[in-house]
Amino acid sequence: MPAAVPAVPATSPRITRAVQFRPPALGRAAPFCFDGPMDKLKILGGTRLAGEITVSGAKNAALPILAASLLTADEFIVDNVPQLQDVATTLKLLKQMGVAVERDNATVRLKADSVTRTEAPYELVKTMRASILVLGPLVARAGSARVSLPGGCAIGARPVDQHIKGLEALGATIRIENGFVVAEAKRLRGARIATDMVTVTGTENLMMAATLADGETIIENAAREPEVVDLAAALSAMGARIQGAGSDRIVIQGVERLHGARHRVMPDRIETGTFLSAVVAAGGSAVLRGAAAETLGAVLGKLREAGAQIDAQNGALRIRMDSRPRAVSLRTAPYPDFPTDMQAQFMALNCVADGVGEITETIFENRFMHVHELQRLGANITIDGNMATVQGVYKLAGAPVMATDLRASASLIVAALAAEGETTVDRIYHLDRGYEKMEAKLAALGAIVHRTR
Ligand code: EPZ
Repeated sequence: MPAAVPAVPATSPRITRAVQFRPPALGRAAPFCFDGPMDKLKILGGTRLAGEITVSGAKNAALPILAASLLTADEFIVDNVPQLQDVATTLKLLKQMGVAVERDNATVRLKADSVTRTEAPYELVKTMRASILVLGPLVARAGSARVSLPGGCAIGARPVDQHIKGLEALGATIRIENGFVVAEAKRLRGARIATDMVTVTGTENLMMAATLADGETIIENAAREPEVVDLAAALSAMGARIQGAGSDRIVIQGVERLHGARHRVMPDRIETGTFLSAVVAAGGSAVLRGAAAETLGAVLGKLREAGAQIDAQNGALRIRMDSRPRAVSLRTAPYPDFPTDMQAQFMALNCVADGVGEITETIFENRFMHVHELQRLGANITIDGNMATVQGVYKLAGAPVMATDLRASASLIVAALAAEGETTVDRIYHLDRGYEKMEAKLAALGAIVHRTR
């Protein structure tokens, strides 16, 4: 067990300075709102971080769990739901389907008395691919669904053929019509499904559909991500009969109906990893309250390899970084291996590390969009196919950069915190999709940051 990380001083000089710097608008608890689409974040980097933050609920657990509300006519209450653009989009989609939705900060009460509309329109789906997560619940509960094909996104083509193949195995008839997936099924029947590759939302969609199927369903090659386990826990609380979530073989015994329940969303492991990467890149220390260390094994291992001291205590993660990070090499893969959603943040960390790090992306075909922006900050990165070789430089220099997708935004922020001078990250609406109150949390860690138009 690594040596215990000394506690973070309660009042770090940096935090007071950051508070002085922040415009008054950020001083008070501003009502949550998604700022204009062209918002920018200005970051004055080059100084160490110190402070404490609380990790929010996991976006990638909340989205399928909210979709699961379609599976029951009873009230389903979800706690620890993060305030994110993707969550707002999901709730808007559910409301359009007739789900009664009430939100009180991090608690959302949902009641799908009757599903009055089984369509997910292109206008919503094109803004959030995870809308595909209503497909399985709609077919299972309402016997039909018309969900727009998500289309590609910045990081890749991201087809949904496995979702379709699995639902057909469960007895749904599916056709593609004018860019929509049109599915029908009187009642789904249990089946053995083996996905061609590990798919997180594919596993989640099929698991949700199978809860109301007639008979037993076995999902082989299932995704093992903690978010799948969290969804299974929520479904079980609703009366679903699921075994094996977290393994690559999930067995579901279908039931006639699901009942209401209350479930608390797990902490966001990618948000946790993002802030840990920021401390390693910029130096300093931090306490992340509510972090679930057990969901971040591969990431913590790489951070320790980079030289960080990390200690899990009383439901919090403490990290200290007193030296320049050592370069690390990694290869993304399905859980429990290194998560693709942390690849961009580690690329940023490697940019200022001592040595050469090789990063291989095996999940998505175009997830190096952050590289060109990092090069604008002075990073020395070469790409060969799905591998990026990063030669660490002693210092990056702040510059205007542009976010291209959610985790690329995070990568640019990590790099900006380590860079000398001011960096402006443009198009941070990408960031607002998946990080709750990012600038307030960065400021609490002593970063000098503010949002501007
Ligand atoms: C989930 O996306 C996450 N999103 C992603 O997080 C994450 O990067 C990804 O899993 C991998 O961990 C949510 O959970 C909402 P996949 P998902 O299906 O389910 C291919 C973030 O930043 N594939 O596991 O869409 C696919 O193209 C986001 O928070 C098919 O070919 O990813 C990819 O190459 C980004 N056919 C691979 O499988 C299918 O039917 C894994 O994709 C499904 C997937």
